[in-house]
Amino acid sequence: MLTQKTTASLQRQSGIGRVIIFRSCVDSTNDTAFEQAGLSQDPHGLVVIADSQTRGRGRLGRKWESPPAGNIYLTVVLVPGFDHQDIPLLSLAAPVAAARAIHQTTGLDPSIKWPNDIEISGRKAGGILIEARRDNRQRMIVAAGIGINVNSPVHSLSRETSSIATSIQQALGRPVDRIVLIAALLAEFEKNYKFLLNGNKGALIESWISINSTIGKEISVRSGTNVITGLAVGISTRGELEIRMSSGTIKRVSGGDVSVIKKNVVNRTGP
Ligand code: BTN
Repeated sequence: MLTQKTTASLQRQSGIGRVIIFRSCVDSTNDTAFEQAGLSQDPHGLVVIADSQTRGRGRLGRKWESPPAGNIYLTVVLVPGFDHQDIPLLSLAAPVAAARAIHQTTGLDPSIKWPNDIEISGRKAGGILIEARRDNRQRMIVAAGIGINVNSPVHSLSRETSSIATSIQQALGRPVDRIVLIAALLAEFEKNYKFLLNGNKGALIESWISINSTIGKEISVRSGTNVITGLAVGISTRGELEIRMSSGTIKRVSGGDVSVIKKNVVNRTGP
C-alpha cells in the first residue's frame, strides 16, 4: 500500500529520492513536482508519488488514466547538471530505469517502444512524460513523470486504453509490491542519470538499444499530420530516432508515435 509511512521508507541519502513527497491524490504529479521544486532551495532529486491522479497527462497532449490503489504515478525532479541540449536524453534514461526495475523485481522482460513506452508482450504497461521549465529563479527544472500499470485491473480503464494496455499483475499473474518496484526504479534512475552527468551518452544509448523493440523494424512515425515511413536504424546522440527511407536517406525524428508496419502474410505454398 502507498501511504506517507511506506513511501517515507523510499528516501535515499543523496541524489534521486533525497526528498520524497507522497499525496494520496493530485491533479498530476508533474504539476505538484514543479510546485514543490519552486519552493525548494535544492530541488534536485525530489520525488513526488501519488496513489491517484485526477488530471494525469500523457505524451502528445493525451490523458493518462490514473485509478487509485494499484499503480505507480511518480515524478522525479531534476536540475540537470549537464549540457541542457542533452535534456531530451532523459526521455531514454527514464524508460531504461523503469524497464530494468520491472525486470529486477518481477523477472518480466519489458521492452521500450521509441521513445519511451514500456511494453510487456507488445502491450503498453507504462509511459514517461518529460517536461522542462525555468522556475522563477531561472533554474532549469525537469519533471520526469513515470506512470506504470502495476496492479489495477486493465478492464477498469477506458475501452480505448484497455484495448492496447496491460499491467504487471496481468502479465505476472500476481500483484506486485509497489514500494519494492519504486525503490528499484529510483536506484536505476540514478544510475542512468549518472551516465549523462558523466558525459557517457553512449552507455545510455546502448542500454536503451538493448531493451528496445523499435530498431530494426519497418515503422511509421506520426507527428501531427506528418508521417514518416521507413526502417528504424538507430538513435542519434540527441535521442532522435534514425529512420532509413526507401530512397536511402536517413531522417531523424525527435517526437511522435511509432507504429510497426505489419506486412501481409503471403501464402507461399502455391506455385
Ligand atoms: C505517455 O505514455 O503518454 C506518458 C504517460 C506519463 C504518465 C505519468 S503518471 C506520472 C506523471 N504525471 C502525469 O501527469 N503524467 C506522468
